[in-house]
Amino acid sequence: MLDRLTIKFPDDWHLHLRDGDAMAAVLPYTARQFERAIVMPNLKPPITTVDQALAYRGRILAALPPGLTFDPLMVLYLTDATSAEEIRRAAASPFVHGVKLYPAGATTNSQAGVSSLAKCTAALEAMEQTGLPFLVHGEVTDPEVDVFDREAVFIDQVMEPLRRQFPALRVVFEHITTKQAATYVTQCSSVDGQGRRLLAATITPQHLLFNRNALFKGGLQPHWYCLPVLKREEHRLALLAAATSGLPQFFLGTDSAPHARHLKEMACGCAGCFSAPVAMELYAQAFDQAGALDRLEGFASEFGPAFYGLPVNSRTMTLVRRSHSVASELPFLQGQSIVPFLAGDVLPWAVELASA
Ligand code: NCD
Ligand code: ZN
Repeated sequence: MLDRLTIKFPDDWHLHLRDGDAMAAVLPYTARQFERAIVMPNLKPPITTVDQALAYRGRILAALPPGLTFDPLMVLYLTDATSAEEIRRAAASPFVHGVKLYPAGATTNSQAGVSSLAKCTAALEAMEQTGLPFLVHGEVTDPEVDVFDREAVFIDQVMEPLRRQFPALRVVFEHITTKQAATYVTQCSSVDGQGRRLLAATITPQHLLFNRNALFKGGLQPHWYCLPVLKREEHRLALLAAATSGLPQFFLGTDSAPHARHLKEMACGCAGCFSAPVAMELYAQAFDQAGALDRLEGFASEFGPAFYGLPVNSRTMTLVRRSHSVASELPFLQGQSIVPFLAGDVLPWAVELASA
């Protein structure tokens, strides 16, 4: 049995850091485990311009505790009003790595999101021409569609028509949660004229480890609630098979999404699992469960950089089989706390951090 695993240092290709004191409180957890992260732009107000993205990046770097290195990879939030010029500016910036689609109303802080992709033709053409990746929250927002079906319906109603209309558009299907999405991404290995992959997907640790039963185990469990919501076991198994397949179109994206404890544990609780403090531990557990620890390095440290055209990290991380418990809560904003994903549980894998 493998008890120690050394891999190239990983990156997180889908992360929510928030801003201000909240960002300063959660940033160290990610910076300890990941060299870089794609930082989601769904702030209030959202990051819609390159100037805003660069200012946000500066605030993240300024909040980084001494001794930690971390490279925030910035993303613009697409709106109905995003211009082709702004997309070209983003593509020309070494600090902006994608444009995020939040269908209006799909999730946390998506009110300013896209009401109809038909309004974004010029921006999408500019992404297609520049190769700037389009990061897609893939759920329809039609209230008539069952919440557990919204991702599968999105593939037929939005994703496929979009990719037909813009055949060279480079898409990341973010935080996939269904066997339909896993199959859709598995079947596409196409590249653009410059040999760059056209379709990839990120997968969260919670969707690899849990099915929707976790939401109701012994009572309503707000800390398991995220969007897209956990699905049936057959979907978890399909995601685990995809993540451990060794196919380069699947890579790590935690979707760690911090919300203060009182905003999760309330009548209308926020969506988002705060997995950053234990992210690599959870991925190691999932890959170990599948007997595929030898595939973790590709998923966590190689396929993401390859998609985004970035170098792999030069330092390494060692994971060890050593049980340890997750904190029951962590400090957040003044007078508030935050509950990490799997708070109080004992995990089988630990990250062995190099002493400074
Ligand atoms: C995210 C958040 O809180 O910003 N929540 C979540 O459940 N994943 C938004 C998102 O990625 O959908
Ligand atoms: Zn997210």
